[in-house]
Amino acid sequence: MRKYIIIIAILLVLGAMQFIRPERNLATVESRYDVFYLTETNPELVRTVKMACYDCHSDRTAYPWYSSIAPISWMIANHVKDGKKHLNFSQWTVYDKEERMHNLREIKEVLEKAEMPPSSYLLLHSEAKLSGPQRQMIIQWADSLSTQIQMSLN
Ligand code: HEC
Repeated sequence: MRKYIIIIAILLVLGAMQFIRPERNLATVESRYDVFYLTETNPELVRTVKMACYDCHSDRTAYPWYSSIAPISWMIANHVKDGKKHLNFSQWTVYDKEERMHNLREIKEVLEKAEMPPSSYLLLHSEAKLSGPQRQMIIQWADSLSTQIQMSLN
């Protein structure tokens, strides 16, 4: 009997949790400030960065079905908020020169150390797992963007 009371209590709490719905990260138009907006970049690179990084570092997250269930929805909202605070590809051209250089250095670093995408994310998004050559491709892109910025062509 006691067991059932506990189970019912847990279900009630889970049910109540569903009413707290975090804000969703769902910009409907492509940002004019996006790092890839109107730039001629290798489409393979664009596809890879969007697939591996944009869920947490852009203004639009591709939400899986389970993402609306609390407490998963809360965890995702936190990741997105935290990720965007550090780096938001959708607001790239809003960053000043120093911020861009700083971001590019960090992008290189997290890729060299394979820190991003986070391993908890990869558990459910195997498609975002980057191969060695894919990491190299993004690192080279970060390098060439840094050079452009240093030469102030940007
Ligand atoms: C599941 C969400 C998620 C994905 C996907 C993701 N990131 Fe992150 N990223 C975060 C969070 C959260 C932080 C801030 C906390 C931290 O440093 O772990 C962060 C921090 C960063 C930082 C700042 C690091 C620092 O030391 O301050 C960089 C740069 C970064 N991510 C790049 C990337 C790149 C590049 C990709 C794609 C290859 C990517 N991230 C994919 C969530 C994500």
